[in-house]
Amino acid sequence: MAHGMASPMENSWKIKEEYHIDEDLGFALPNPLEELPYPFDVWISIAKNLPTLIENDQLRAEVEKLKTLNIDDLQGHKLQRLAHLVLGYITMAYVWNKGDGDVRKVLPSNIAIPYCKLSEKLGLPPILVYADCVLANWKKKDPRGPMTYENMDILFSFPGGDCGKGFFLISLLVELAAASAIKEIPIIFNAVQHQDQDTLQKALVDITSCLHKALEVFHQIHDYVDPNEFFGILRIYLSGWKGNAQLSEGLLYEGVWDTPKKFAGGSAAQSSIFQCFDVLLGVQQSAGEKYAAEFLQEMRTYMPPAHQNFLHSLESAPSVREFVLSKDNAGLQAVYNDCVKAMVSLRSYHLQIVTKYIVIPAHQQSKKNQTAEEPSEKENKGTGGTEIMYFLKSVRSTTEHALLKEK
Ligand code: HEM
Repeated sequence: MAHGMASPMENSWKIKEEYHIDEDLGFALPNPLEELPYPFDVWISIAKNLPTLIENDQLRAEVEKLKTLNIDDLQGHKLQRLAHLVLGYITMAYVWNKGDGDVRKVLPSNIAIPYCKLSEKLGLPPILVYADCVLANWKKKDPRGPMTYENMDILFSFPGGDCGKGFFLISLLVELAAASAIKEIPIIFNAVQHQDQDTLQKALVDITSCLHKALEVFHQIHDYVDPNEFFGILRIYLSGWKGNAQLSEGLLYEGVWDTPKKFAGGSAAQSSIFQCFDVLLGVQQSAGEKYAAEFLQEMRTYMPPAHQNFLHSLESAPSVREFVLSKDNAGLQAVYNDCVKAMVSLRSYHLQIVTKYIVIPAHQQSKKNQTAEEPSEKENKGTGGTEIMYFLKSVRSTTEHALLKEK
């Protein structure tokens, strides 16, 4: 965990171990576990067979048969993260089943009780989050081989063939490419502290190059994710019960709360990596559209608490943007702007992806249904439940506003 990242200087800014950030993998969980001990292994058996159990109409009955297990016996962060991932998959499958509109509004107590207790322990909500299905849902085929798509796999799948593998692994690989830039953060703050403009300039160049690599990796999504499978199948299983007309009251976690609770679906908006560079560069999402700012802030509550704390610690550090602004250094301002532009490019590319994977299939579907000329509100929403294009364009435009006027 983040060993060797700290500068030897006294009072230097460090990435503390408690932030759960790996030197190579960033926010991803290193080498996630795949097996739970008895009696929890029964959850794994169900989660490993979700597509078949759903197809054969057996999934809900299998879940209803489960004993209520006491999660106090599950010790250790990695085991608990695996259990959260597995219960998240099972819960999504139980609620959405075949994805044909036959939804369940009550999660039975035999799964709701351990799931909510575990979620409380981990500081995560009781729904499948990005920290589960992307950050903790991977393995290398050859453990000594590289972290490449070809040498990797996901641990659990929803129906929809390899679409889930493509979506989760590409998200992870984008995250990993950008993660190399996290190492530069202590260097940057220490350079600001010591007024060392050359070191700062070099670190900003390195961050830009990592963000460019992340953009290159993003392109691979076209090779591995089919728009119709994503839109028509996977998106349904990632949907939450907040702002969702199918569960307008939310989901009742039987035996835990007396009233239904609303939680947003799994989305890469819950990734810490973009928010991390926004904060570092002084991109003030909080000063942008109120709705977008609130949504991004809310998404933080779906991140592991250690990562939320890390973002918070970045916010309390000295402002890199103010420092760059205060220096009459055209070279430094240019490399700062390159970094911000790299974030803008990532967001522009992401907008194209969302057009291909959500907006166009939504139009096609509503034409097929001939119910409306415009895609219905439900179809045009992301899994997190936002009015997506409006939201994403506003986030990009706030990023652009951070650009300094070039001299
Ligand atoms: C098929 C591919 C993808 C689709 C359809 C997609 C869709 C969306 C949607 C609809 C949102 C709006 C929030 C919501 O309603 O959930 C969103 C937000 C976001 N997505 Fe994606 N996404 C995709 C891939 C990725 C990948 C690979 C990443 C990077 C790891 C990513 C990072 C983000 C971020 C950071 C946000 C928050 C907005 C921002 O900070 O710009 N997305 N995405």
